[in-house]
Amino acid sequence: MTHKQPTDLNSIEALTTHLRERLGDVMPDFEIEEKARLAHRINQLKKAKNALILGHNYMEPALFHSVPDITGDSLELSRQAAQTDKDIIVFCGVEFMAETAKILNPEKTVLIPSAKAGCSLAESITAEDVRQLKARFPGVPVVTYINTYADVKAECDICCTSGNAHAVVESLNSDSVIFLPDEYLAGNVARETGKHIIFPTKDPLKAAQTQAELDYQMIGWHGRCEVHEQFTVEDIENVRAQFPDVVVLAHPECSPEVVAAADFSGSTTAMINFVKNQQISRYLLLTECAMGDNIAAENPGKEMLRLCAVRCPHMNEIHLIDTLHALEKNQYEVTVPEDIRQRAWQSVNRMLQIGA
Ligand code: 13P
Ligand code: SF4
Repeated sequence: MTHKQPTDLNSIEALTTHLRERLGDVMPDFEIEEKARLAHRINQLKKAKNALILGHNYMEPALFHSVPDITGDSLELSRQAAQTDKDIIVFCGVEFMAETAKILNPEKTVLIPSAKAGCSLAESITAEDVRQLKARFPGVPVVTYINTYADVKAECDICCTSGNAHAVVESLNSDSVIFLPDEYLAGNVARETGKHIIFPTKDPLKAAQTQAELDYQMIGWHGRCEVHEQFTVEDIENVRAQFPDVVVLAHPECSPEVVAAADFSGSTTAMINFVKNQQISRYLLLTECAMGDNIAAENPGKEMLRLCAVRCPHMNEIHLIDTLHALEKNQYEVTVPEDIRQRAWQSVNRMLQIGA
């Protein structure tokens, strides 16, 4: 379920009160007031320019709780991007997310507040890599995680997100699927669905294949999220030793071993909803640290343990001031060549159609 911001945040005072209620325990008043002034300018400009601001769940707390019209995970934000009638979409997230909004809205202006908000998963694979895999495994349908660029999506049959990966794979009704590019998400889907996965591309020069490699139902790639790959089973054991009552939540971009050792795994929104709906008092979040701050702000009675030495440098590129500049200067505009966009749209739209 997406989260819509309250619509009555139209004065500096209302924004200050709103931010103080959520962040007053961790942010001094003078900073809250400064953020509220910035957020007010953004909200005024947003209205004047008929813009929509979408905010990913990883946005820093002051931004997350003030300017997005809608916050959510990649799947929800894609759905919202597909439905908007606004002229401009400002995407407070990373480039592949803004690109997906552009794929769905070719006639609208899509802006991303920083030109440096990439993603290690999106960087891990090229369109040529996908063409080579398809030549090697002809006829096998290709699923791509939404954390890829448009030219890669254009080579694939269907997209998925962390919120629907399992359902998308099952929807294909195929004996085998190529699942790109996240090695760990693929491993977690394979584990959930009982499918045997191989990673032939880890050693592309190896000519001979073992019988186990030939007996596959999923074919993976070697991309990894630079944030989630750092969490270990030992981290979980250490935290459980100190806090025996802790409930551990891991994003499915964590390794299958970490996910198996956790108590719950799901998309960023699934984790938010899990905490909201449980009566448990202490959680460990194995995901980008800012999301722990955002959840803590909305669940004052619950304690969020997080390993904040591990941060997403790309998501952390985006702050209120960058969002203001995006609207003031119409920067940075996201574009996708039309032939690529049309083919990428097929993959994204097929995912949206399955409705999971
Ligand atoms: P979600 O789709 O779960 O929000 O994840 C996006 C992402 O980039 C996680 O690292
Ligand atoms: Fe990419 Fe990982 Fe950052 Fe998500 S957390 S945007 S997958 S690098």
